[in-house]
Amino acid sequence: MILEKYLEKRRSIIDKALDKYLESADVMPKTIHEAMRYSIFAGGHRMRPLLLIATYEMLRGRRDIRSIRRILPAACAMEMIHTASLIHDDLPSIDNSDERRGRASCHKKYGNAIAILAGDALITKSIETIMEINNKNQSLECLKLLINSASTRGMIGGQVIEIITSQKKRVKLHMVRDIHLKKTGALLKGAIQMGCVLNDADEQTINSFGDFALNLGLAYQVIDDILDSIGADEVLHKHAGEDVRNRKVTYPILLGVEESKKRASKLLDDAENTIKYISGNEVLLEFIETIRDRIP
Ligand code: IPE
Ligand code: IPE
Ligand code: MG
Ligand code: MG
Ligand code: MG
Repeated sequence: MILEKYLEKRRSIIDKALDKYLESADVMPKTIHEAMRYSIFAGGHRMRPLLLIATYEMLRGRRDIRSIRRILPAACAMEMIHTASLIHDDLPSIDNSDERRGRASCHKKYGNAIAILAGDALITKSIETIMEINNKNQSLECLKLLINSASTRGMIGGQVIEIITSQKKRVKLHMVRDIHLKKTGALLKGAIQMGCVLNDADEQTINSFGDFALNLGLAYQVIDDILDSIGADEVLHKHAGEDVRNRKVTYPILLGVEESKKRASKLLDDAENTIKYISGNEVLLEFIETIRDRIP
């Protein structure tokens, strides 16, 4: 399996870079830096930065650890904004989750006020980090992707629409799909399109990788919701059953578990088809398979 070694090496490079970009825990005011680090180093998959790097290396036509150094600001910025979204998602006034990444969620450990500010601080830090890309044109293009993907048109918008729809009696599948594409798809799309932009890819390539990312993101969220609905605590590294408790409308709730599994698998097929004919696609294809393996 090429993927395991490939990911292991890159994960460790991402972690070292995150450690470098974040203030150390003894910088004043200590609590906020401690809380940011607590959530960043809680053991996430690093899916967004890894997909960014894998896309970049595929389009570049070379897998070379040294050459990814220059794109680490983009990879780390995406992980920071993703982690911020999780800290805020877990707050009592949103999903009210006590656990995240196998440990107490940020607000359980540091209190609501510091958790809100740690999320905010990771967002500002992600902007600061993306400015570290040396090529100023690429830095600006990545900044636009970062902001757009997290904006009210992307992740934040998806979270908001989800909160509003969870109070409604009748929710249709196309609405749930739209929520997922925004709350989960948008950040994946931003990360993967950064991999394109950092290669000066043309518009057609950027668009086609955008579609790839949205299919992947939608599939990932559907699978996450299936796992939540069947009580797969050990796969999710947290207590399952949250979606029912929070009255979330999900694919498994609307379609049942078996049909949702089929839909997720079909979305992954669609993602696969987008990159089928690109040379050097082995890593991304295996990546899709590891997501498929999460289907219970
Ligand atoms: C969790 O994302 C939120 C969803 C989109 C379902 P991940 O499963 O990528 O979370 P971490 O980063 O590994 O903790
Ligand atoms: C998370 O969706 C999406 C974002 C944080 C933007 P969920 O609420 O389903 O993710 P989990 O289940 O808490 O990881
Ligand atoms: Mg949520
Ligand atoms: Mg949640
Ligand atoms: Mg969930």
